[in-house]
Amino acid sequence: MDNSKDLIYFDNAATSWPKPEHVYTYMMDFYRATGVNPGRSGFDLAIEAGSLLDQLRLRLTRFFGGDLETPERLCFGYNASDALYLIINGMLAAGDHVITTNLEHNSVIRPINHLVRDGGVEATFVPFDADGFVDPDDIARAFRPNTRLVIVNHGSNVIGTVQPVAAIGRLCRQRGVSFAIDTTQTAGVIPIDMQAMNVDLLAFTGHKALMGTTGIGGLCVRKHVELRQSRSGGTGVNSIHPYHLEEYPWRMEFGTPNMLGVASLWAGQDWLDEQGLANIHAHEMKLARRLIEGVRPLEGVRLYCCDRLENHLSTFTLNIDGLDPGDVGTMLDVNYNIATRTGLHCAPLVHTQLGTAAIHGGVRFSIGAFTTEAQVDAAIIAVEAIARWGSERRRKGIGR
Ligand code: ALA
Repeated sequence: MDNSKDLIYFDNAATSWPKPEHVYTYMMDFYRATGVNPGRSGFDLAIEAGSLLDQLRLRLTRFFGGDLETPERLCFGYNASDALYLIINGMLAAGDHVITTNLEHNSVIRPINHLVRDGGVEATFVPFDADGFVDPDDIARAFRPNTRLVIVNHGSNVIGTVQPVAAIGRLCRQRGVSFAIDTTQTAGVIPIDMQAMNVDLLAFTGHKALMGTTGIGGLCVRKHVELRQSRSGGTGVNSIHPYHLEEYPWRMEFGTPNMLGVASLWAGQDWLDEQGLANIHAHEMKLARRLIEGVRPLEGVRLYCCDRLENHLSTFTLNIDGLDPGDVGTMLDVNYNIATRTGLHCAPLVHTQLGTAAIHGGVRFSIGAFTTEAQVDAAIIAVEAIARWGSERRRKGIGR
């Protein structure tokens, strides 16, 4: 059964859906007309494909406020996890200390934990405050003489708080420590300016608010930063060379690029330019406010870190007393055709700090550019009905 037409989609933090129509048509047209391997061959079509790839490097470098003189340092990979792995393993070595936060996704936590367990690296995980923000003073207190890298999730995929990266960047620059941000949830919604924010390394994914497809993402490496390559493979050029190339972009790229993804990101940029980030964010936050204020008064509903919605994304998590979040998600899905994401959201430290890890996490709602007021109102009605049912169960002493 195809119920996708009526699906009420609140899982935009996992991937944005649908995409703008322009993205679908541009991808199809590009791939039909130009779907050859770029940078490997000299025929016209291959040069044309390579040209889109290089133009996108420059366009995204500008979008992220990187160094326009070195667009080749905008490198593509599979997604943000891939880029974060390259950043973390390309920066840290035995004896180094890294500062990060409890807001991180497993794509930061796990590579760091591997280096701590197996690679002689030390790590500090800084907690967030009661509103969900990391205090730059806490980062300042965590610096050690051997701190090599600070890496921070720009926007939480669980509680939606946007971190004060410019203030943290200043602290890093004063100490000569490299600063990396994970823009998975913010790129395409919140303006990012690597130069103004003193960000040295940035990881992004294509398939969320940048409106591209899954399978493309990458990193932007400022011109003064030395990043070791931690993988090796084909580059399409200088084939006689026995080792992976040192030069960017090849230094951080491996194998044939995802050209369908490149086309999707190009078209996504067209769409973002046309809409304007501020308008997209304002639309999403208006709906987030409506949804949060609609469910906040309901008996048994607990919201996390949404008392203040300044510096916030339109993503938030709730629980209903006595009900397992997985069951709430199933009821939303089966009874109301509402898609959410439940559980720990690949960000276990957020849930540990909130105290929700022990109750299987929470139910996350993430609003996107195409969410409507009617969908928000339907979600409020659904949560209200489930919360009422939960209250009755509690009154009867059923459940936990
Ligand atoms: N990390 C993505 C999410 O939060 C997939 O859902």
